[in-house]
Amino acid sequence: MTNLAVDICGLRMKNPTMLASGVLDETGKSMLVVAKAGAGAIVTKSIGKEPRVGHSGPTIVELPQALLNAMGLPNPGIEAYAAEIAEAKTAEVPIIGSVFGGSEQEIAELAKNMQEAGVEAVELNLSCPHAKGYGAEIGSTPEMVETICRAVKETVTIPVFAKLTPNTSSIVSLAKAAEKGGADAVVAINTLKGMVISPEAKMPVLGNRYGGLSGPAIRPIGVRCVYEIYEAVSIPVIGVGGISTGREAVEYLMAGAKAVQIGTAIWKEGPEVFGKICREIQDFMDEFGYTKLSEMTGVAHHGRT
Ligand SMILES: Cc1cc2nc3c(=O)[nH]c(=O)nc-3n(C[C@H](O)[C@H](O)[C@H](O)COP(=O)(O)O)c2cc1C
Repeated sequence: MTNLAVDICGLRMKNPTMLASGVLDETGKSMLVVAKAGAGAIVTKSIGKEPRVGHSGPTIVELPQALLNAMGLPNPGIEAYAAEIAEAKTAEVPIIGSVFGGSEQEIAELAKNMQEAGVEAVELNLSCPHAKGYGAEIGSTPEMVETICRAVKETVTIPVFAKLTPNTSSIVSLAKAAEKGGADAVVAINTLKGMVISPEAKMPVLGNRYGGLSGPAIRPIGVRCVYEIYEAVSIPVIGVGGISTGREAVEYLMAGAKAVQIGTAIWKEGPEVFGKICREIQDFMDEFGYTKLSEMTGVAHHGRT
C-alpha cells in the first residue's frame, strides 16, 4: 500500500497537496470545505495589517488555459481574520498563515500575529505581481528577500515559508537569499505578471490593468523554477502553478518539490479536485512501483548532465 504522508518542516500532512493562498480561503468555513475535500494542508488568503477592499473590477479574466487576476489582496485585516483561523483550525490539517506587508518590520509583526492566532507555519507573500508596494515589489531582490526572512525568523518560532516571484531574471537567487535569511522552505511560484487588452474597448480589461497569470499555461514555468531551485538550496521546495491532475503533481515532485499547492484548478473543478489529485498520485505510484513519495522527489535530476 502506497503512503502519501509527508512531513514539511515538522508539519505532518496526510498527503502532499495544499490549498494555495487566495482561492477559497477567505473564511474559516471555506477552508473547512477544502480540508474536508482532502487537502493535506491549507494556506490562508494573504492577510495584511488593515482591512483592504482590493482593486476595482473586473478583477478576473478567464483565458483558454489560464486565469489573469488582479484581486489586489482584498482581506479583512489580521485582527478580524483571527476568528477565521480559529474556525479553520477545527479541521485536522495544518493551517499555514499567508501574510503580506510593505516592510520587513510590518511582515514580521504580521507573522507574529499569525503565530498568536494559532497557525502552524507562516508563508510570506513576497511575490504578488499586482499590489503596489507589496508582494513582488518588495520581493524581487535577493537583498530584500534575505532581510525580510531574517526579520521574520527573529520574531516567530514557527516554520517560515518564503513564496517567491517568477517575475525575475533569477528565481534561484531569490531562493538562495531566502535560505540565507533563515527561511525553512520556499514556495514557487506565484503568478506571472500579465495583461489582456480589449481591442473593441481599446483598453486593458482588468480594472488594475495588470494582473497575475495562473493555471495550466504556467505549469512548465513552475516546474522549471522548482527544478532549478532544488539544485541550488537544501531547504524543502513547495511547488505551485497549474496543477489539476495527479500526473501534474508528480511532475513537480520529480522536479524536486516535497509538496504541491493547488489554486486555479478549484475554479474549474471545485474543492473535490484535492481528492481526485491524491487518488491519481496513488494510482501513478501503484502503477510504477513507488511505495513512498520520497522515492519520487527530485528523480528527474538523475541521469542528466
Ligand atoms: C484569484 C487568485 C487569488 C490569489 N491570491 C493570492 C494571495 O492572496 N496570496 C498569494 O500568495 N498568492 C495568491 N494567488 C496565487 C496562487 O496562490 C498561486 O501561486 C498561483 O495561482 C499559481 O497556482 P495555480 O495555477 O494552481 O493557481 C492567487 C491566485 C488566484 C488565481
